[in-house]
Amino acid sequence: MEPHILILGAPGAGKGTQSDRIVSEFGVDHVTTGDALRGNKEMDISHLGLEYDTPGEYMDKGELVPDAVVNEIVETALEEADGYVLDGYPRNLEQAQTLSEMTDLDVVLYLDVDEDVLVDRLTGRRVCEECGATYHVEFSPPEQAGVCDECGGDLYQREDDTEETARERIRVYEENTAPVVEFYDEEGQLVRVDGEGSPDEVWADVSDAVETNA
Ligand code: AP5
Ligand code: MG
Repeated sequence: MEPHILILGAPGAGKGTQSDRIVSEFGVDHVTTGDALRGNKEMDISHLGLEYDTPGEYMDKGELVPDAVVNEIVETALEEADGYVLDGYPRNLEQAQTLSEMTDLDVVLYLDVDEDVLVDRLTGRRVCEECGATYHVEFSPPEQAGVCDECGGDLYQREDDTEETARERIRVYEENTAPVVEFYDEEGQLVRVDGEGSPDEVWADVSDAVETNA
């Protein structure tokens, strides 16, 4: 059976960057709530009777989208995946509980990055609108500014990567998601990886951890 990998970390810790490499190396699916929600920002969720009527309104404020919406996205994606790397979920203890009823995990990775590094990574991030490849204007720039090395597509900045929203996302992470990291640590499942090296240095530790534990 293909490995079931969970990757945890604050906004900007490098979950997407390392998940792409895990997909290439281990042949698993990338299940990521952030990308799934960005593709469905205008979805009508008014039937839930909550604060806002679309996922996008929560996302652009840096708030969490309601559990009912994300739980369903993850359940469907995991049913369709053979192995997977799950990125962006669970983000609170309720979601962690729901996940434990859906699937078993072989390895839980935590990318450890200091808060002051995160804002710089987020505000400098650029993403290809065609293929989703991720760049950083300073730390991993494309050969030609604004153009994807992989496919020639245009690069854009995510709407939640302004400094103000990035700081709010980090605050929401500390409040809701840091307890999830503690939960897996107490279960004895957490593999802590230093996320502050270069992408290649982090990958050396991430790939070791997957090979050892999955
Ligand atoms: P989501 O898309 O999941 O965002 P996030 O968790 O804030 O994480 P990011 O994607 O910002 O960071 P990352 O760790 O993937 O970093 P990356 O590799 O790109 O969620 C967005 C929103 O959706 C949420 O705010 C919420 O509203 C909603 N949502 C999603 N899931 C939800 C859930 N389960 N429940 C409720 N709501 C949910 O790297 C960042 C930058 O750093 C890049 O520019 C990259 O090039 C650079 N970089 C990466 N690694 C390195 C390195 N080692 N050294 C230098 N630079 C690096
Ligand atoms: Mg990401």
